[in-house]
Formats: sequence, structure tokens, C-alpha cells
Amino acid sequence: MRIVLLGAPGAGKGTQCKRISARYGLLHLSSGDILRQERAGGTELGKKARSYMDSGGLVPDEVIVEMMAEAINKAPQAGFVLDGFPRTVNQAVKLDESLTGNGQKIDAVLSLNIEQEVVSERMTGRRSCPKCGAVYHIKTLKPKVEGKCDNDGAELVQRPDDSLDVVKNRFRAYNEQTKPVVDYYKNNSTVYDIDANRGVDEVSTLVFDNLDSLVKV
Ligand code: AP5
Repeated sequence: MRIVLLGAPGAGKGTQCKRISARYGLLHLSSGDILRQERAGGTELGKKARSYMDSGGLVPDEVIVEMMAEAINKAPQAGFVLDGFPRTVNQAVKLDESLTGNGQKIDAVLSLNIEQEVVSERMTGRRSCPKCGAVYHIKTLKPKVEGKCDNDGAELVQRPDDSLDVVKNRFRAYNEQTKPVVDYYKNNSTVYDIDANRGVDEVSTLVFDNLDSLVKV
């Protein structure tokens, strides 16, 4: 299965992708996580991405398309779930071209729909593990020990781009550049609209109901 998850910043893409990956044995490919790893490793790509990410803008398409093509090529036969990519119509077109070239296609697109007020609360309360990337929330998804990762005990941190000013810009980029991607897929693929305002487990149930119909679990 090849799945794309679309949604505003903080809509719950990463949270649901981890669950999809575990349930269907798919590789979870998050463009944001890959960029953060590149930055942490001090690579040229990471250096190029830094200023765009810190201001809440999108990293240029040519950088992202090449980075994600490389990651997708390493995906297992079972398939992958894309989180945060594609984020512009141009990225979606390039992804389709490269999949078609390999005799493949996107099987389903999940569009996580959410109100902006709900999302702001989620982002300001998000905490993540700098070591393993696990994501928590100070109210809705607490770690067992406050401030510590359940997996490795590392001190949880707040993402620097979750500050109010940067969040505003991330929303602007989403509204202007990423929303049209939903329409692109509505014309080219199967799109499932998901009410992402609900709790984590309820959203997962909606997601699985749709994906289970595509694959025998
Ligand atoms: P990226 O890391 O992709 O950030 P994003 O899209 O803004 O998404 P987030 O990671 O903030 O949110 P999410 O939807 O994954 O929500 P999460 O599950 O964590 O990108 C960062 C930057 O990288 C971009 O700004 C850009 O500069 C660059 N970039 C990345 N990809 C790019 C691309 N393709 N092209 C160009 N540039 C690119 O959940 C959020 C919080 O809410 C968590 O605390 C979670 O526990 C909680 N939560 C989740 N679901 C629920 C629920 N149902 N109920 C209650 N709480 C919930």
C-alpha cells in the first residue's frame, strides 16, 4: 500500500502515521523528521533547510523531491505512508511521475480536516523526544513520567517551530501551498476525508475503517 496523509500543521499526521505504519507494516516517511535528522547531522541539506523551517516557510521543491525520492526508493515491498509530503502541487506531480516510472501509484490519500483553534492547542502542548522522535502532548498524550520519554527516558523538548509566530507562518504556507494538493488528489486518486478534531483513538478508528477496506488485515 502507498498512502499519503495530508493535513494542517498539528492535525495529527505524525501520530496517525505511526499507527498506520504499525498496523499495516508500512514504512513511515516523514519529510519533517528527515529534515530534522539532516539538521541534527549538520549535513548540507540540513543547512539549506534551516532558514525555511525556522521561519515556517516551505523548503524548496527541488530539495524535497530529491530527498523523498531517495527515501521512497528504500521502502520495502509492503509500501509506505507519507507524512508531510507532498506539500505543493508540484511535489505531488513529481511524486506521481516517479511512481508511474516504476509502475506504481498512490493507493489512497487521507485528508485530516481540523479547526484552527483545535490545532493551536495541540501544537503549543506538543513535546517530543530528541532521541527517538516519539511525540507526546502535555494534556492528551502524557508520558508515564512527566517530561521524560517512555521509550528511552530522554528529556522531552518543545519543537522550536511551535512558537506562535512561526506557527502563523506555517498555517499561511499550508493554506496557500498545501490545500491545493487535496484538490489535485481529488482529481487523481481516492481521497478519504477524516474528521481530525476528534480524540487520537477515534481518529485512528476512522482511518483504519477506510484503510481496512483496501487491504485484508
Ligand atoms: P513537519 O514536521 O511536517 O510539520 P507539520 O506539517 O507542520 O506537522 P506537525 O509535525 O507539526 O504536525 P502533525 O500533523 O504531524 O501532528 P502531530 O501528530 O505531531 O514540517 C516541519 C517543517 O519542515 C515545515 O514547516 C517545512 O519548513 C519543512 N517541510 C517538511 N516537509 C516539507 C515539504 N514536503 N516541502 C517543503 N517543506 C517541508 O500532533 C501534534 C500534537 O497534537 C502532538 O502533541 C500530539 O500528541 C497531539 N495530537 C495528535 N492527534 C491528536 C488528537 N486526535 N487529539 C488530541 N491531541 C492530538
